[in-house]
Amino acid sequence: MNTSEYILALDQGTTSSRAIVFSKSGKIEAIAQKEFTQIYPESGWVEHDPKEIWSSQLSVFTEVMAKMKITPKNIKGIGITNQRETTIIWDRITGEPIYNAIVWQDRRTADYCKNIEKQGYADLIQSKTGLRIDAYFSASKINWILDNVQGARERANAGELAFGTVDSWIIWNLTNGEVHVTDVSNASRTMLYNIETLDWDTELLTLFDIPERILPTVASSSEIYGHTSGQILSSKVPIAGIAGDQQAALFGQMCTEKGMVKNTYGTGCFLLMNIGSKPILSKNNLVTTIGWKIGDQVVYALEGSVFIGGAVVQWLRDELGIIKNAQEIEKLAESVNDSNGVYLVPAFSGLGAPHWNPYARGTILGMSRGTNSAHIARAALEGIAFQITDILSAMQSDAQTDIKELRVDGGASSNNFLMQTQANFLNVVTLRPEVVETTALGAAYLAGLAVGFWSNIEEISEQWKIDRTFTPIPDQSVKESLKGWKRAVETVKFWANY
Ligand code: G3P
Repeated sequence: MNTSEYILALDQGTTSSRAIVFSKSGKIEAIAQKEFTQIYPESGWVEHDPKEIWSSQLSVFTEVMAKMKITPKNIKGIGITNQRETTIIWDRITGEPIYNAIVWQDRRTADYCKNIEKQGYADLIQSKTGLRIDAYFSASKINWILDNVQGARERANAGELAFGTVDSWIIWNLTNGEVHVTDVSNASRTMLYNIETLDWDTELLTLFDIPERILPTVASSSEIYGHTSGQILSSKVPIAGIAGDQQAALFGQMCTEKGMVKNTYGTGCFLLMNIGSKPILSKNNLVTTIGWKIGDQVVYALEGSVFIGGAVVQWLRDELGIIKNAQEIEKLAESVNDSNGVYLVPAFSGLGAPHWNPYARGTILGMSRGTNSAHIARAALEGIAFQITDILSAMQSDAQTDIKELRVDGGASSNNFLMQTQANFLNVVTLRPEVVETTALGAAYLAGLAVGFWSNIEEISEQWKIDRTFTPIPDQSVKESLKGWKRAVETVKFWANY
């Protein structure tokens, strides 16, 4: 019988649900992962079935315990991390969702948001929430569900409905409906949470016509929120950490000092900088967000969100069929010396920071008769790295400092060609840690700190180790390529605004 103690992270992402077991040394002991259905009812719309989110999450939870031959008794705490902004509304009595989850990538509320912007609310919203008005965040998605599901608004006003981002939904189900909670990092992505006063903001609730009683309680990122229900697991396990996936990754990368920066290459790419205990509002189209709250200490971050990162590789695999699996892209891209003038702007769900154009769409420019699949593969990877380059320069201007090193993680960070290209484009040393599952690791650390599995941040900081350093290689052609990328993005924006 295994008597060891572990922390379990539940990582509910955009395309899959994962459960990862960590030991005291911060090492991954086992992983279980399950993809789930992506629903595209109309162009620009993206939904998930909340019940499938939950069932896939529960099934990987039991699978990973079976793999390790452990029981819930071996698990000292559970950390939850999740795709952020994705909006679910359910019935408080039956637990039945009243509509599919509207995913962060969904652009159905773009016109509604433009209208709010035209009415002059941009500065007010930025000063309260750190965000810019965009369909990306939860507020307009909640409003859409209340307006479009029959009877929803009346039921919400009567207190019959609950709203949650995916963390809240998972915890509601783990506790069998006993706990309705979120943490500050997830609340800060709703566009309804005041990041200075740390409260739901009544003025914004009125603006978006959302009754306060549907909202969860907001807690810190590291505390015991409740325990798993006896109906779900054979013994009660404390749920002790919550953070949105990008903030969890910032913590898992141990970017715990002001000025430290990480980028996660997941479905999208998210570059975050720890800016310390005071929010700085961006002047360069980034957003300010809450990183985490431990005890009374709140840490803020500047964020540049790129909507399509690793997802472009999936698109090359599933829709174009030019690679059979994600690993193949590295070899294909390296089989040519350059992209032969081809640029791929992967704006499948509009453009995020720093452009914020919800109407932009994916575009390939600069093809000639000699363009082949290798050029397109290379342009796709360069497109990811170019987007991060745009964001890093905006971040340097906001923070008024030169960024000296970038910590990278997420699935696509295992692609050495992409990481070297990234270092060259940024001219910044790029560090890949041994554990690239930093999202899950961050959630595990937050939970482990709350239950005393780890005693303090200093103890866990020592666990962060470099796997590989990518030093920028001077290349004269980078400047020209960056100019070409800028023209490509401007062309895409011109098309979108026509
Ligand atoms: O803001 C969206 C983000 O949280 C999604 O992350 O890893 O599921 O692409 P990921």
